Amino acid sequence: MHTVRIWDLPTRLFHWALVVCVIGLVLTANIGGNAMTWHFRFGYSVLTLLMFRAIWGLVGGRWSRFVSFIYSPAALMQHLRGESPTTHSVGHSPTGALSVFALLLVLLAQVTSGLFADDEIAFAGPLTALVSGNTVSMATGYHKEVGKLILIGLVVLHLLAIGYYKKVKKTDLIGPMIHGDKALDAAVAPSRDTAGSRILALCIFGLCAFAVNRLINWGAGSGF
Ligand code: HEM
Repeated sequence: MHTVRIWDLPTRLFHWALVVCVIGLVLTANIGGNAMTWHFRFGYSVLTLLMFRAIWGLVGGRWSRFVSFIYSPAALMQHLRGESPTTHSVGHSPTGALSVFALLLVLLAQVTSGLFADDEIAFAGPLTALVSGNTVSMATGYHKEVGKLILIGLVVLHLLAIGYYKKVKKTDLIGPMIHGDKALDAAVAPSRDTAGSRILALCIFGLCAFAVNRLINWGAGSGF
């Protein structure tokens, strides 16, 4: 067996920070009232994390890069028939990749609609002033009635898939998302996870946080 670094530290931190934020978002949305201040903060954090992940998908460790888990429909069918080459289960498998892209896109839609949503009582997203009332209504409707349900559905599917891998396929996916390493039959190239790459990730994350801060202030009228 070969122990190989698959998930670099920035990807793992991204994942678990995302989990904390999504749980925080669901809780604060249900509590309402003053907790909405934290709902906004968690939302801005998710936007920062998504921006970071979009960039890290281009420059991050080998197995975190989008190119390593973009599969053709033929590869997906092959995987569903159980005939995938072992290289397709090193990082995200074809079905795992589908769920990752779906989660990232639905989270982006949820955060974006939140920026334009208005509860018409006390809380309005920071970009509501930039668009028409009709757009605000549509964004609010999607955010509260549609996106939320799709997101919860995808998270449940995500957890069921991980449970299925554990129970049926006897494959632990959670451990590698915590410590980063997988024990593989063949030696494959690892993800870069050095001090240098982690510092790069921190700089990218800082820039993303700055961009989100500017975006929010732009909506509040203090200029970009
Ligand atoms: C709010 C809930 C969650 C969200 C939104 C979420 C989202 C994601 C995303 C976006 C990825 C892809 C990571 C990347 O490549 O950037 C991922 C992967 C993963 N997540 Fe989650 N996740 C959630 C909860 C959990 C929980 C609770 C667990 C563990 C019990 C978990 C275990 C994993 C594992 C093991 C992978 C890697 C799967 C693979 O090997 O393809 N996730 N998750």
